[in-house]
Amino acid sequence: MITLKAYKQTFESTLKNCISNSAPKSLHNPINYLLGLGGKRLRPILTLLSADIFGNNHSKAIHAALAVEIFHNFTLMHDDIMDSAPLRRGAATVHSKWNVNTAILSGDAMMIYAYQVLENYEGLLYRKLNRLFSKTAIDVCKGQQYDLDFETKSKVTKVDYLKMIRLKTAVLVGCSLKMGALIGGANKADSEDLYDFGVLLGTAFQIQDDYLDAYGNPESFGKQFAGDIIENKKTILYHQAMENGSSKEKAALSNWFSNQIKVKDIANKINAVKLLFDKTGSSDSSRALVSKYTEAAFDKLNSLDISTENKVLFKTFGTNLMERKF
Ligand code: IPE
Ligand code: IPE
Ligand code: MG
Ligand code: MG
Ligand code: MG
Repeated sequence: MITLKAYKQTFESTLKNCISNSAPKSLHNPINYLLGLGGKRLRPILTLLSADIFGNNHSKAIHAALAVEIFHNFTLMHDDIMDSAPLRRGAATVHSKWNVNTAILSGDAMMIYAYQVLENYEGLLYRKLNRLFSKTAIDVCKGQQYDLDFETKSKVTKVDYLKMIRLKTAVLVGCSLKMGALIGGANKADSEDLYDFGVLLGTAFQIQDDYLDAYGNPESFGKQFAGDIIENKKTILYHQAMENGSSKEKAALSNWFSNQIKVKDIANKINAVKLLFDKTGSSDSSRALVSKYTEAAFDKLNSLDISTENKVLFKTFGTNLMERKF
């Protein structure tokens, strides 16, 4: 067992030597660029941690850790095209630094590299990992499509929203943990409970990401300030405002989210929408939901057949994540 920081270091040094530098450079440079911009590496850390907890074997899990992180970065490369995002991890996104075609193809190659690195496993374990990974990948595509559909759909409920974020974000967190557990040799009940823990934690994480989009520090967040408001994303802040606002406030919000705004009016839109979020208490109630899902995740840990010390490790990870200490 090693510390969370040491898992990250182990992972970073393996990742450095992982992606090909072969020709054409125009395919591989954007991949190495995005992977080299860092990030919290929360998914691979979870894979390594759970392999250690269930089988004292994080070195065997390094390939799965690479697979989940490369896959995650592929989704970011394409997500930034879909969300017209100029910034990622405090630097230019791949499609703005190069172009959209480059980001499509380099992203495709990353997804395939993610699958290729899984080929380091064999037999039944390989089949189990591959099945889980593919199911998760399709779920992420479904979630991303709902996310896009919801930009222009006028009636989107909070239930729709929760289903969407489960698919686009939370299942990959569950998958990262479950892969580590499978490699460590966990039993079925434990690996399923761990998956559920990851989905709840991933849900809390995406709700917090929505909150930080408008209320975080843009410098440490590394993304365009209020990008979700600009793109008419019906995030948790929108749903909480629609739940608690007066009819006048709800009509105003609905109106802001149904129009494509001219560049010169963007600052006005952001100010007006944030004022509505403030007035309806949406920022506080969104934060309360982050705590609710984090607590629900921690409750799931009770059913796991692992030592109290190990439960504390998962809990520490969750607490650090919600405090964005990575
Ligand atoms: C960003 O994921 C996409 C979401 C699911 C919110 P992360 O916040 O884990 O991104 P990095 O890898 O740390 O940059
Ligand atoms: C990210 O959702 C989900 C995936 C990349 C699959 P967001 O669009 O909210 O992520 P950020 O805010 O761009 O990181
Ligand atoms: Mg995005
Ligand atoms: Mg998106
Ligand atoms: Mg976001």
